[in-house]
This record gives sequence, structure tokens and C-alpha cells, in this order.
Amino acid sequence: MLYLDNAATSRQKPAGVYFALIKHTVFGSQNAGRGSHRLSIRGMRDVVEAQDTVAELFNIRKPQNIAFTMNATYALNMAIKGTLEKGDHVIATEMDHNSVLRPVYEQSEFTIVKADGSGVVNPADIERAVRPNTKLIVCTHASNVCGAIQPVKEIGEIARHSGALFLLDTAQTAGCMNIDVNDLNADLLAFSGHKGLMGPLGTGGLYVREPELLKPLITGGTGSLSESVTQPRFMPDMLHSGTINTPGIAALAKGVRYVLRHGADSIGNGERELAEYVIGEFKNMGGIRVYGNENRIGTVAFNIGNIDCETVAEMLGDKIAVRAGYQCAPLAHKALGTSDRGVVRASFGAFSRRSDARKLVDAVYKISAAKGIS
Ligand code: ALA
Repeated sequence: MLYLDNAATSRQKPAGVYFALIKHTVFGSQNAGRGSHRLSIRGMRDVVEAQDTVAELFNIRKPQNIAFTMNATYALNMAIKGTLEKGDHVIATEMDHNSVLRPVYEQSEFTIVKADGSGVVNPADIERAVRPNTKLIVCTHASNVCGAIQPVKEIGEIARHSGALFLLDTAQTAGCMNIDVNDLNADLLAFSGHKGLMGPLGTGGLYVREPELLKPLITGGTGSLSESVTQPRFMPDMLHSGTINTPGIAALAKGVRYVLRHGADSIGNGERELAEYVIGEFKNMGGIRVYGNENRIGTVAFNIGNIDCETVAEMLGDKIAVRAGYQCAPLAHKALGTSDRGVVRASFGAFSRRSDARKLVDAVYKISAAKGIS
């Protein structure tokens, strides 16, 4: 089975991730930071090492301001619901995933900024949407549907000038683009641990510039201030209620180390080249519609003639894993003009090869030829 669904999760990981997961499950299954015995302290050390590694990746000056979560969705919910209070206005975009849109739609005052037909948001539209009570601007770094990279540097500057917080969703870009929270003016950054960073499923995290920026969504035991019934307000404890997934976090750190060694931009360039090769071949074939623009990550959204996208995915299904449909991003499809049909999405990862891209092209060619399209 050829796996081209890396936008959903990375299937192949660096060997160190598997070894760390096994090692830390066998030897590290003690409760980190909940006790003063040696094992508990060692568990906490693993978490701190992972924070240092993630901080290096995103150029974060205070590693302690990184909390680990189950995935990017949890991180985004913590950030959106934790910063907004009644009467606050929040801006999101059509290119955002439901992990942003659903919590935003629960707020009393929000604006969803439109994207153009190639899936890109215009920063001027964000600027026009700012109100005196705009507390938060949130934007995905790149679309999980068509891979279009958003103008997040400009959006971060608008947030800074207008006094709003900027929450950057890097679910699709952590591990395949160089990201610097200071350069992008990100007050909050949500990341997935199991996609481009190649950690285990069930890992992700949230960076918060200062703990005062948000209220914790989940409260409970943190292993600190245990004599008090009040949630600590320092990072990462304020967001680390309940037992921490130490083996997962230690393994995630190995994935991040791999990215640091090889370079996020260099990994991303490899993925983008494969996407560009596929798009070029699709253009030569004719009858294939590709969505998005040229400034993309290694994700290709397409349709073959009028064939239903789910049918294409099924036809590829036993040989090539892709994701068809709406990819949990309904408004991105509105922007791309695919609300009535969805798309087939193929997404490359750090271990994808040219031969994988060629296999996809051949398979799509066979389907379109069989249906009389090419
Ligand atoms: N958000 C993931 C995707 O786009 C699951 O497929």
C-alpha cells in the first residue's frame, strides 16, 4: 500500500521515534512530575527535554511555555476558548480547519475572512475585519485541503499593530517549513505532533507567549501546588492537568530531532517537488483539475473530470491511500468552488519518493483513460 495521506498523519516515522516509544513505555511508564521519587523526576526530565527540542524548532525563547496536548485540535481549542471572553471578537479564515471553525462558531462575535479561488486569504481583508474589540486572529499556516500557504507574516503584523493576539495553526506545516514565532509574531502556536513532526498519534502541543494570555480550559491535578484547590497559573502546569503522555512526548522529541537534523525547509522542499511533479503530469494528461496555487506545501487536491472524488479514492484504494471528500474544512471548499463535490487529496511526507509520485500519476492516468477522460 502506497501511503499518500501525510496531511492526515505520518505513517512512517524515523527509527528513533519507534525506539523511544518502546523504551519509554517499558522503562518510562511512571507518572512524570507526580511524586518526588527518582522515576517520576526522570519522567519530568523527558518532558523538559522535549520542550527544549520543540523550542529549538520554533525559535521559542521560553521552552517552559510549551504544553503538550493530544493533538492540534486540543491545542487550538485551549487557545481559542482560553483567550476569549464574552464581548471579544475573533477573526478566522475560510481556509481554516474545523478544529478552528467549530470553536470559533461557538463564540458570540466572529468574522470569517474569505479566501480567493486558489485558497489564499488577502491580509487586507483581515485588516478590514479588525474591530476595536478584536482579541484574537487565528489562521492556518497552510490549507489542509489544497496546501496553499497563507500570508501569515503579514497577518501577524496586522495582529501586532491592532493589539490582537495571533494564533498560528501549524498542523500542516510544522516539520515541513521553517517556523519562527518571533518572526511571525505568533503569540500562540498550535502544532500537531504526529504529522510533519512524525511523533506518535496522540501528540501535539501549544506554545503560549505568556501564561497570562489565557485561562486553562481543563483543570485538575498538575503535581504542583497540590495543597491548593486552585489551578496553577504558570506554564506548562496550567495546561498539563492529569497524567502526561511521557512515552509519546519523548518519542515526539525524536521526530523533532530528525526534522532539526534534516531541516524543515529541506524536508518541505522535497515534498513540494513531488507535488509539483504530479501537478505537471496531471496538466499534460488533460481532464484533471488541480486546486490551490503555486505557493504550496506537498499537498495536491484534484478531481478527475466529473468522477466523484470518493469513487476515485476507492479506485485507488487498495493500492494508494489518499483522502477524498471535504477533509474537515467545509469553508475551504467554498473558496475553491468544490462544496458540491469535494476533492481527492494526495499528500507527501518526509519519506515519500519520486517513484511514489510516479505511481500516483500512473494510477490516475489509468482511471481517467478507463473513463475516457484523458
Ligand atoms: N486534519 C487531518 C486532515 O486534514 C485529519 O486529514
